[in-house]
Amino acid sequence: SASPGERADAFVLVREEIECVTERLRRDIFTEIPALERAAEYFFRAGAEGKRLRSTMLLLMASALAAAPPRLELLTVDSAPPAEHPTDPRRRQQRIAEITELIHVASLLHDDVIDSAGTRRGKRSLNAVFGNKVAILAGDFLLARASVSLASLRNPEAIMLMSQSLEHLVAGEILQLTADAEEAVSMDHYMRKTYCKTASLMANSCKSVAVLGGHSAHDCHLAQEYGRHIGLAFQLVDDIMDFTSTASEMGKPQLNDLRSGLATAPVLYAAEEHAELLPLIQRRFKEEGDVEAAQALVEGSSGLQRTRQLAAFHSGEAAAAIDAMSPAATPHAAEHRRALLELTQRVLNRKK
Ligand code: FPP
Ligand code: MG
Ligand code: MG
Repeated sequence: SASPGERADAFVLVREEIECVTERLRRDIFTEIPALERAAEYFFRAGAEGKRLRSTMLLLMASALAAAPPRLELLTVDSAPPAEHPTDPRRRQQRIAEITELIHVASLLHDDVIDSAGTRRGKRSLNAVFGNKVAILAGDFLLARASVSLASLRNPEAIMLMSQSLEHLVAGEILQLTADAEEAVSMDHYMRKTYCKTASLMANSCKSVAVLGGHSAHDCHLAQEYGRHIGLAFQLVDDIMDFTSTASEMGKPQLNDLRSGLATAPVLYAAEEHAELLPLIQRRFKEEGDVEAAQALVEGSSGLQRTRQLAAFHSGEAAAAIDAMSPAATPHAAEHRRALLELTQRVLNRKK
């Protein structure tokens, strides 16, 4: 199994295959409508691709479960159009990585419109550059291309899983937008929303990779659990960073959540110690001085520490899912499992 041996750097291990997926992504979104092309490719350009955490995790998962390392020709870009059925299982798994990035970026384009955000990934947001209408349509276009690519896999279970994640993204956003006074102070509501917004896509894409690899129901389930727990940990750390990181580190403004009226885990924990936070949460920090008062109360509480503990718990559960998988078939698979374990630590320690 994946016992902690030498260090496996997650991002280095799959660098070649990630480049292959990134290049395919740029081809997936090609269109002859110039205005659409400019908008669609904006976040797939060199330097604007983001961390590619999701695709990295998915390629690691493919190798972690594989019976043999991928053949070398599978690490170079194929010329197959998005609608063509990929014959090789590894190509199908790579498509899940592409589709996941497409869905993720589509959700960010729509999110930035909803949040009236001016920056993303250290650049001006797409809505800021081209306006809300084009940003919404560019997001729809990415979803359309993701759908074609997903259909090309001809695997009903993967289509089902990825489509459920789409529904969850929408559900998470609506849960957040329409929370009433009671829901706004509820940790259960927050965790449900967090699963929908962040963990579901990671969980269901991880499971899709396992399904397309033809692995056992048990291993498919563990892949899903890995994605779910690492997704929850990832979002909890994101919510901590909103208090502790600088704008230049994150590529977006600090205290963004409070300013958007959102009470995340650090605030909900702080409210258990400082009940005077409750009315501020319920009026969504709208009155003069609310954001600063909430920030001070969070910092004078164990909210950030308890959120970190919860993130560490989910990170540990993600690692436990890898350890519970059926034994690695090869040293190559074992090395990729160690990288998945390393990723659970990296998610906890990240600064951006
Ligand atoms: C970022 O959250 C937003 C999401 C993770 C999901 C947004 C989902 C939608 C807008 C629903 C529509 C979905 C699709 C697929 C089109 P954030 O605003 O908390 O974080 P940020 O700081 O990155 O903006
Ligand atoms: Mg946002
Ligand atoms: Mg948002």
